Amino acid sequence: MSQGGTIPVVVRSATTVSRDVRQLQFSRRDGQRLPPFTPGAHIDLHLAPGLIRQYSLCGAVEDDALYTVAVKLEPQSRGGSRAVHERLKPGTELDISLPRNNFPIDLDASHSILIAGGIGITPLLCMARALVQKGGSFKLHYFSRSAEHAAFLDVLQGAGFAGQTEPHFEQNHEETAASLKQALDAPRPGAQLYLCGPRAFMDLVCNVASERGWPKASVHLEYFNAGQQAPATSESELRVTLARTGITVAVPPGATIVDVLRAAGVDVDTSCEQGVCGTCITRVLDGIPEHRDLFLTEDEKARGDCMALCVSRAVTPHLVLDL
Ligand code: FES
Repeated sequence: MSQGGTIPVVVRSATTVSRDVRQLQFSRRDGQRLPPFTPGAHIDLHLAPGLIRQYSLCGAVEDDALYTVAVKLEPQSRGGSRAVHERLKPGTELDISLPRNNFPIDLDASHSILIAGGIGITPLLCMARALVQKGGSFKLHYFSRSAEHAAFLDVLQGAGFAGQTEPHFEQNHEETAASLKQALDAPRPGAQLYLCGPRAFMDLVCNVASERGWPKASVHLEYFNAGQQAPATSESELRVTLARTGITVAVPPGATIVDVLRAAGVDVDTSCEQGVCGTCITRVLDGIPEHRDLFLTEDEKARGDCMALCVSRAVTPHLVLDL
C-alpha cells in the first residue's frame, strides 16, 4: 500500500462487453493479494493528476487476485470514462483506492429485488453473484435500451442467474413503469430493494416502490452518474470566506468552490469531485448552502451546517467555511 492509501495496480485485461461498455481487470503490481471487498463496493481510479473517478466493483468478492470494473463511455464525459476507454490497456499502470462501500447489501434478507438501469448493473451484478453463491432468494430486473447495449447479458443468462434475471429492453416510459409496477407488486415481509441507474430512472423506481407500499427503509439506491444531479439553476458570483485564515475568494458562475480554493493555493481534500464520496464535506459557519451532492442525507442538507465543496454552491451570496 502506498502512503496515500492507494494500491499500485496494472491493467490485466480490457475488453468490450457491450456497445460503449469496457470491462477492465486490475491486479496488484507486486503480485500480492488485493484487499477484500463486499458487494456494492467501489474503487477510485486515479486516471491522471486531478482526474479520479469512482467505479463499482462487479467481479466476484472471493476473487482476491483481480478487481473488475465496467465503464460506459459517456458522450458528456468530463474526462473520466473517455480516459478509461482510450488510455487504459493491458499493461497500463495506475493507482486505485481501497474499496469503499456506501451501498451494502443484506445477504440474509428473506428476498432481494435488484433493479438496474443501464450501466447501473455493475454493483448489482456483484450483489447477484454473492446471492447466487449464498443461495439467497432474489430477482434481478435489468432495464436497458437494447440487448446490444446490455453489458454482462451472457453472465446473467448463464448458470445460477438464468431463472432469476428478467431483462426489459426497448421499453418506452409507460412500458418501463408498467414493468416496474409488476416487479414491485406486494413486497414480501423482510424483502429488500436495491437499485442503481440514471437519476430519472431511479426516481421512477422510487415512486413506483412507494406506490406499491415498499417501506423507505427497505429501499437502497446508488446513483452511477452524479453529473446528472446538478440542478440547472441560474448562478451568480458567490463569495466564500475561510474562517481559520480569513481568506475570501470569489467563485464565479460555472466554477466550483474547490476549483477556486485550489487556484488560491488552498489545499482541499477531494476524491470523486462529483458530490458522491463525501471527502470534501466541510462545516459551514455562516450562509446557506445550495446542496447539489448525493452524499448528505436530506436531514443533513436541511440542517445546512455542512456541504460538499466540489459541487454545491449557496443560496446566500456569502458563505463562511470552517477552513
Ligand atoms: S470530492 Fe467526493 S463529494 Fe466532493
